[in-house]
Amino acid sequence: MLSLVVLISGGGSNLRALLEASEDAEFPARVVAVGADRDADGFAHAEEYGIPTFSVAMSNFPDRESWGDAILEQIRVWDPDLVVLSGFMKLLPPRVIAALSPRLINTHPAYLPEFPGAHGVRDAIAAGVTESGASVIVVDNGVDSGPIISQERVPVLPGDTESTLHDRIKVVERELLVQAVLDIANGVVDLRAVGQTRSR
Ligand code: GAR
Repeated sequence: MLSLVVLISGGGSNLRALLEASEDAEFPARVVAVGADRDADGFAHAEEYGIPTFSVAMSNFPDRESWGDAILEQIRVWDPDLVVLSGFMKLLPPRVIAALSPRLINTHPAYLPEFPGAHGVRDAIAAGVTESGASVIVVDNGVDSGPIISQERVPVLPGDTESTLHDRIKVVERELLVQAVLDIANGVVDLRAVGQTRSR
């Protein structure tokens, strides 16, 4: 059974998808703790499922490095097999990434390498593209630049706003994330080999 710590900043719809997937006894992964950089709304999902939460606000630390060390300390309490960034809107310091890599993955609401960063959906709308997408990646030290585990296109429809497009992307993103966790747990995806070769 793959143990997961999920880090969020917002509503946690992707987290919820993982929690719902793990209601199936056959699903080979379980969320053991949920962390955030604030008192995130998504903690409500964790609480509903009886999953412990932790919050480490950057404003309580003198610099990004000491904040990152505090998050890493919290993560290590749970000794997870995999850490999932799911709408976690802060960049982790390089030494945290080095400590967790490659067992650190992220979801992004665009078809990377298109539209990286904090406003992937807004940027796609502004660019006037007819399709965007969703991606699941291994985290590296860049901004949404790590090796791609999986991704899928989502059409941008006439009249789409950031909100309507993001809602449709999230439906796809949830499926990609649950499938990626399943594939990692089953050894179909080897995180050390993503971006080089796939075992599928
Ligand atoms: C998701 O679409 C996630 O990909 C995005 O924030 C949303 C969080 O939704 N993350 C990023 O844009 C990171 N660059 P959720 O809190 O409902 O899961």
